[in-house]
Amino acid sequence: MLQAGEWAYTEKLKEHFMSPRNILQGDNTDDFDGVGMEGNLQCGDQMLVAIKVDKEKEVITDCKWKTYGCASAIASTSILSEMVKGMTLEQAFHVTPKDVVKELGGLPDHKIHCSVLGDKALRASINNFYSRNGMDDRVKQEQATIVCQCMNITDHDIEEAVLEGARSYYELQERTKLGTVCGQCKDEAEALLEKFKHIHFGA
Ligand code: FES
Repeated sequence: MLQAGEWAYTEKLKEHFMSPRNILQGDNTDDFDGVGMEGNLQCGDQMLVAIKVDKEKEVITDCKWKTYGCASAIASTSILSEMVKGMTLEQAFHVTPKDVVKELGGLPDHKIHCSVLGDKALRASINNFYSRNGMDDRVKQEQATIVCQCMNITDHDIEEAVLEGARSYYELQERTKLGTVCGQCKDEAEALLEKFKHIHFGA
C-alpha cells in the first residue's frame, strides 16, 4: 500500500520526468524533416514531436518533443525520443505504447493512456516526412474513428482499455479520460464498450 506522498512510479520514470531528454527548445521546427502534433490543448494534453531523418537510409537521426502533458506523458515521450533514434522510419512507426511502458519499467494502469500521445505524435511526424518528400503513398492514416472529440479518444483506445481490464463506463473513463469534458460521447462509448467486451470476452 502506498503511503501519502509516495510515488507509484518506477525509478526510471522518475528519472526521465526529472531530467527529460531531447526537449525541443523554442518553437522553431524549420530544421526538422517531419513534425507531428497530437492532442487537445484545451484539455492540457498536447504533444509535438519533430524528427530529423537521414534521407538515404530513412533512419531517424534526431527526435525532439514538447508537451503540456503530465509526468507520465513527459517521461514516456522522453524515453520514446531516445528509443527511436537510429531506427528506420518503418521501425519507429511500429513502436507501441506498450513498448514504451515496458522500457519505463511499468506505469500505473490509469496512466497508460498518457503514454499514447507521444507515440501518436511520432507517427504523425513520420507521415509528415513522407508528405514533404513526395511520398504521399506511404502516409499511413490511423484507421481509428474518434469517439470523444474533447479528449481525442478513438474506438481503438476504447478497445485497448477493454483489453487492459476496463469493464464499466467508469473504468473506461478512468483509463482514457473519455467523457470528462462535455459528456456527449457517453452513449457511443458505452455501446463500443459492450461490443468489445463481447468480442474479446464473450461478455
Ligand atoms: S466528446 Fe466531450 S467529453 Fe467526450
